[in-house]
Amino acid sequence: MSFDRRDFLTALVGGMVALTNAEAANLEGCGQGDGPPDPDSLARAGALRGIVVGAAVSSEQFIDTSYRAVLLKDCAALVPEWQMKWTATRKAPKTFDFAGMDLIARFASDHCLGLRGHPLIWHGAMPSWAEQEILAGGAQRHLEAHIRVTVGRYKSQITSWDVVNEAIRPEDGIDGGLRNTPWYRALGADYIANAFHLARRMDPNARLVYNDYNMEYEPQKAQSILALVLSLRDKGVPIDAVGLQSHLWATKRPLRTDALKNFCRTLVRNGVDVLITELDVRETDFNLTAAQRDKNSAAVVKTYLETVFAEVIPKELTLWGLSDRYSWLKKPKFNPENPLGYINRGLPYSEEMARQQMRQVLLDAIQCVPIQYKKKAT
Ligand code: XIL
Repeated sequence: MSFDRRDFLTALVGGMVALTNAEAANLEGCGQGDGPPDPDSLARAGALRGIVVGAAVSSEQFIDTSYRAVLLKDCAALVPEWQMKWTATRKAPKTFDFAGMDLIARFASDHCLGLRGHPLIWHGAMPSWAEQEILAGGAQRHLEAHIRVTVGRYKSQITSWDVVNEAIRPEDGIDGGLRNTPWYRALGADYIANAFHLARRMDPNARLVYNDYNMEYEPQKAQSILALVLSLRDKGVPIDAVGLQSHLWATKRPLRTDALKNFCRTLVRNGVDVLITELDVRETDFNLTAAQRDKNSAAVVKTYLETVFAEVIPKELTLWGLSDRYSWLKKPKFNPENPLGYINRGLPYSEEMARQQMRQVLLDAIQCVPIQYKKKAT
């Protein structure tokens, strides 16, 4: 179903269209000028349906005018790709450096974009001092200080936090499939609940998210995540949502759609929201034509979104970047199947900032969701 400008204006005039703050602000010229509604925008299509479309960014990308243009067209929210990680903000035990994150927050504010916080507690991207101090008795102190200072700084602007990231790894052989991280070794499984309770105390209104990957490829991991999240919620731990990172493979791994459906359905039935938080595609069939590669990436995203949307409409649909130009999957250390650092064609825009088939798949999937009409408050 295509939704065109006439319908939008008709609905708006009728006072029937639900607008997000960003949407309403955009109509008043906040950020991106006073142009007419852009039915082609992923952000606007999502805003009309209760889906906040976003992308991971880093502040040095804002001077790239062609990339900035697509960010402002297609995003209603941003998430720091790396500038909120401990390696960026925590150079030493007693220091916090938010210079990079503040640039992202300022850009979001200037353009009336939402903002996600990612991540608070993770085993990845940790400076060496942190692992040492966590394992030497400082874990609870550092967990509390980091959450208090970071959430405290951005609570007025960040409405959704990845409080704990990637805490499950069944291969580590720990009860419950927990990952053998410095946080686990120092505090046991309680570090997860501690983090969520503290984040809630610091921000009573934010969406608190447990974020992880490969639920769509590893049924056992998906089951461990379900067990963890539901057991913590039964104990009153304030987990509002689970983030499907959604780092997909174009051809190398088959989606486990049944396991993914069951995962989403079980969470929804237990009152837990499901978000898409880092969508991109590992696409390493370098011997194929660009068109074939784009088709493969678009096809797996189509199947993925159809599977998830059949169970739940995510309130947040965040891509791990909008363009192959800045994809982390160009870097061999993050994409071992790409040892020579070729372009990975796994995002809505190409290296040259041309639209790829995936973008249309995203727009089509969002536009298949009914528009959320709400009676204007009388
Ligand atoms: C990655 C970023 O893309 C890189 O730029 C950074 O150097 C390392 O982290 N899952 C996550 C993200 O939750 O934080 C990771 O992001 C990708 C995997």
